[in-house]
Amino acid sequence: MKLGVHRVAAFFLALLLNAPAAVCHANAQTKHALATLAPSADSHQQSAVAPWWKHAVIYEIYPRSFQDSDGDGVGDLSGITKRLDYLKDLGIDAIWLTPMFPSPQVDFGYDISDYTSIDPQYGTMADFDRLAREAKQRNIRVIMDLVANHTSDQNSWFKESRSSRNNPKRDWYIWRDGKGPGQPPNNWLSWFGGSAWTLDPKTNQYYYHYFYTEQPDLNWRNTEVRKAMYDVARFWLSRGAAGFRIDAISRLFEDPNLRDDPILPGTNAYGDPNIEHKYTDNLPEVHEVLRELRKVVDGYPGNPVLISEADQPNIVELTKMYGQNDEVQLPMDFQFALVNRLSAPAFRKLIDEIDRNRVSGQPYFFFSNHDQPRQWDRYGDGQNNDQIAKLTATLLLATRATPQLYYGEEIGMVTTPPARKEDVKDPIGKLGWPKDKGRDGERTPMQWDTTRNAGFSTKETAWLPVPPSYEMRNVAVEEKDPNSILNFYKKLITLRRSQPGLREGSYEALNRQDEHVLSWLRKNPLQGESVIVALNMSGEPRRISWDLKSHGIKQLIARPLLTGPGWDRAEAPLSGITLAPFGVFIGAVQ
Ligand code: GLC
Ligand code: MG
Repeated sequence: MKLGVHRVAAFFLALLLNAPAAVCHANAQTKHALATLAPSADSHQQSAVAPWWKHAVIYEIYPRSFQDSDGDGVGDLSGITKRLDYLKDLGIDAIWLTPMFPSPQVDFGYDISDYTSIDPQYGTMADFDRLAREAKQRNIRVIMDLVANHTSDQNSWFKESRSSRNNPKRDWYIWRDGKGPGQPPNNWLSWFGGSAWTLDPKTNQYYYHYFYTEQPDLNWRNTEVRKAMYDVARFWLSRGAAGFRIDAISRLFEDPNLRDDPILPGTNAYGDPNIEHKYTDNLPEVHEVLRELRKVVDGYPGNPVLISEADQPNIVELTKMYGQNDEVQLPMDFQFALVNRLSAPAFRKLIDEIDRNRVSGQPYFFFSNHDQPRQWDRYGDGQNNDQIAKLTATLLLATRATPQLYYGEEIGMVTTPPARKEDVKDPIGKLGWPKDKGRDGERTPMQWDTTRNAGFSTKETAWLPVPPSYEMRNVAVEEKDPNSILNFYKKLITLRRSQPGLREGSYEALNRQDEHVLSWLRKNPLQGESVIVALNMSGEPRRISWDLKSHGIKQLIARPLLTGPGWDRAEAPLSGITLAPFGVFIGAVQ
């Protein structure tokens, strides 16, 4: 499956392919901004003062697909509770749960009909409380999804709003007259295909929806809406949530004058013209809301975190708006997830840019999630995929960014899109077939063992089929194999926790001219060992040597910490080592 058909990627592609002038302009701005930013001591903070989310390994769980406990073929909260020991053993500090609130499931939970209950197919409030309690006992925090941009059309707020033009909640959503008979108010398009406006015959006005018709957008210019959503946040914080991943945050506001969006050349997978979402995305008003939300969460103990789902091609702009440490601590770096092939220069440039961007405190990296094809096949070359999975794991876990895993990546789960259109569950996959097969491929059930449905469910068939690859790729098999991807993740996470250089160290790019090997130093701010990392991003053996004197490293050898494949020596001379194809080297230096 091509990443290009996916939501975020499509946005960047549109920019890159169709608006080169805009991109150049953005780059020039970035450089200017970088040059004028003062260095900060932030990356040198020590753990005594560092907040928990800075060192946390976050694990995204799609509850529908993680573990079914009642045999209905759908994952649930008690299933997650049952697997907490596995997560503890893996070394996870926090789980992010995608929505499990009552929902008609048009967008599998991102269409919420009641924000302060649990959907019966996922369990009860008592199940949630037990999950939160059991997670806490294991020092695992629970981050929830705050779907603030839109509700389900079955939410009582919307039902009231649509009931009449003068209903008190009318203004909670965005209602407008059509331009003329049968004509929507303007040319805005839904991210999921077709016009972003749907006519409601009852009151003969259109309502706006950035996503599916069944997901009407809330009107964030209305203060009652803000209060209602902040109350939702308070509700979950007081039940033990450690913070929120805020869904589609960049889409909260639209141009009040309803100006038409610029049309770009070409069409997308849904047959619509490509469009720049200029008047419906990243409006400056979003920042104001984030500040208010920050105040709300700061009223709760435990230093709750805010993570923003926002895509912005310019990293400085992204962090200015979504993460200056005064509101969102962790702005998701979509750019990182979108470097779509192994390229040392591409990753070096990006990590550099992120690292030197002092507007933001802490980068946030991920490769896979419930909207994007999995990394195992995205970066895999068809022959060395398992080794490449270990390499990308190192890239994710050994920089100073807060890393986020997506369930199943630690066992090398494979993206498995439906073979036939009639099997597709995700509505955009039906609409976009076969160009865009939707997101089912990255949402297949977690593979636990070799029993029925890979141990996910005892039902005959699970809500999505388990890929045949489960027989070799599952937790039970990989736990026993010392060379498995799973055991590699465990070692990496342990190392990240125990090695002060990896935990606290700054990021310093090394060997900048190398076309094939990406290498960096994590310089320990305290006395003691620092860490060097080298990743061979090519299918050939590559030699690398380091001169680290200017970085304050005096010894000429490294002590290998985690390496592979085929590296078992006790010492590595900095004058040169050879890395196997897609080989990984992590070593301690002093
Ligand atoms: C976010 C979610 C995605 C959902 C969309 C609409 O992008 O990650 O799964 O479809 O918002 O809520
Ligand atoms: Mg179930």
